[in-house]
Amino acid sequence: MSALLEVEGIRKKYGQFEVLKGVSLQLERGQAKVVMGPSGTGKSTLLRCINYLTPPDAGTVRLDGEEVVPRNLNRIRQQVAFVFQDFNLFTHLRVIDNITIGPRRILGLSKTEARDRAMRELERVGLADKVRAYPAELSGGQQQRVSIARALAMEPKVILFDEPTSALDPELTGEVVNVMKRLASEGMTMLVVSHEIGFARSAADEIVFMDGGHILEQGPPAQLFDAPQHERTRRFLRMIGDQVGDAAAAGEGA
Ligand SMILES: Nc1ncnc2c1ncn2[C@@H]1O[C@H](COP(=O)(O)OP(=O)(O)OP(=O)(O)O)[C@@H](O)[C@H]1O
Ligand SMILES: [Mg+2]
Repeated sequence: MSALLEVEGIRKKYGQFEVLKGVSLQLERGQAKVVMGPSGTGKSTLLRCINYLTPPDAGTVRLDGEEVVPRNLNRIRQQVAFVFQDFNLFTHLRVIDNITIGPRRILGLSKTEARDRAMRELERVGLADKVRAYPAELSGGQQQRVSIARALAMEPKVILFDEPTSALDPELTGEVVNVMKRLASEGMTMLVVSHEIGFARSAADEIVFMDGGHILEQGPPAQLFDAPQHERTRRFLRMIGDQVGDAAAAGEGA
């Protein structure tokens, strides 16, 4: 049986600069993969190409065996949710309306159906009591959990996360990581750009290390973290290890 998400030979140029130089990866049903790598290496561009927020120049994306082409782009994109670094909630809408707007407008659910679904997903991320709040009345961690609930309410086949905790203070990171760990353990298929080693070690089936528009190496967390093949990977892991160490030393939590 084919993988749920198959990404094959994705290339993307901005002007003369080739950001993605032929990236391929697969996600099996229920798998969680974490993508790591230095800044500017094309991680966000890869996620954006996968759901065609940014159309790739070359390569193919298949979801559930079906290739994404212009004709079915909108339908397939509904099945690939995106969680952004900066939450991207509508600031003028209450939490409940942020979550129901997609199911109502895109999936055509009735008001009641969308509400029921939103409540279910808000419970799942532990924010049932914030239904009527506006985003500005929530902490960053709560806003990110709302945006995860919004993604879940579309009942996607896969969720793409782009550095979901990097805009958060360290003490708020844990609540978002815990929600993501739970989703992974419940069998949600997820591709997560993140440098949260704790999440990667405990929840990821595989780590993908990107460098300079390529996948340099990938493998299970134990292999990639404890026995990386490439000096480039070792250097990067030392760097983020030092940052985690610094934060812990400064008493900001690990
Ligand atoms: N819309 C764009 N126009 C021009 N160049 C872009 C655009 N988006 C990204 N780039 C460039 O492509 C390269 C890769 O960017 P990308 O955001 O994918 O990297 P990243 O790995 O996600 O980095 P970071 O860890 O900092 O988020 C960078 O050099 C960036 O400046
Ligand atoms: Mg990025």
